[in-house]
Amino acid sequence: MILAARELHTFYGKSHILHGVSIDVGAGEVVGVLGRNGVGKSTTLKTIMGLLRPARGSVVFDGQDVTGTAAHRLARLGLAWVPEDRRIFRALTVLENLRTGLDRPGVDADRRAQLLDKAYRSFPMLAERRKQAGGTLSGGEQQMLAIARAMMLEPKLLLLDEPTEGLMPRMVAQIRTIVDALHREGVAILLVEQNVPLTLDVSDRVYIMEKGAVRHVAPAAELRAGDAVIHRHLGV
Ligand SMILES: Nc1ncnc2c1ncn2[C@@H]1O[C@H](COP(=O)(O)OP(=O)(O)OP(=O)(O)O)[C@@H](O)[C@H]1O
Ligand SMILES: [Mg+2]
Repeated sequence: MILAARELHTFYGKSHILHGVSIDVGAGEVVGVLGRNGVGKSTTLKTIMGLLRPARGSVVFDGQDVTGTAAHRLARLGLAWVPEDRRIFRALTVLENLRTGLDRPGVDADRRAQLLDKAYRSFPMLAERRKQAGGTLSGGEQQMLAIARAMMLEPKLLLLDEPTEGLMPRMVAQIRTIVDALHREGVAILLVEQNVPLTLDVSDRVYIMEKGAVRHVAPAAELRAGDAVIHRHLGV
């Protein structure tokens, strides 16, 4: 098990948002989290990532209790997060954005070059645009850059918050290809999405959230878009 989030209760001020959310991710597993707007998907990721401290519950990452540990320390332990709003540096070039993930202890010049080379092979569009400012990229390209930048950290687990939201079908297809490629490489992924068919396709297991709680968990192969259980919880 790479991640075990147990019985998380998270508040914003007095608003009780997460009501005992438990989510596991196995080593190398791709786990989807589906749920309508406002059910607490991003809050779950932020609690795992140490940006919100749960009032109750625990987060164990790679065998270590990391509940409430600061995000930058989690990144060093191998946990990477691509937030909903991507947070790429708009004024920095594509290459400079990628380099922000490479300037860390224990990564020598050779390794940096290898990691950059790999990113450019996985995302040829980023190689073409390496000298372009991040802010000039399209939404889909910025999403690719955000994922590629997270991969510079060589994470054991990647948290992706609605990576396909608002993207054109061609870009959605590219995100799917990337998730599949990372899966084959053995990178574990916790994928928050509202795109049901995509999530069922790329995930090993899927959690369905409603009102700050997990309502259903099943192997992705047991669910189909339009199933009664999907319809009941997601309305699609
Ligand atoms: N900073 C905040 N302060 C107060 N309430 C918040 C804050 N952020 C989110 N919330 C509330 O917490 C609940 C869960 O929000 P969250 O962003 O986790 O949902 P989500 O499932 O990610 O939704 P979406 O699909 O729209 O991204 C919502 O009711 C939202 O209004
Ligand atoms: Mg969200």
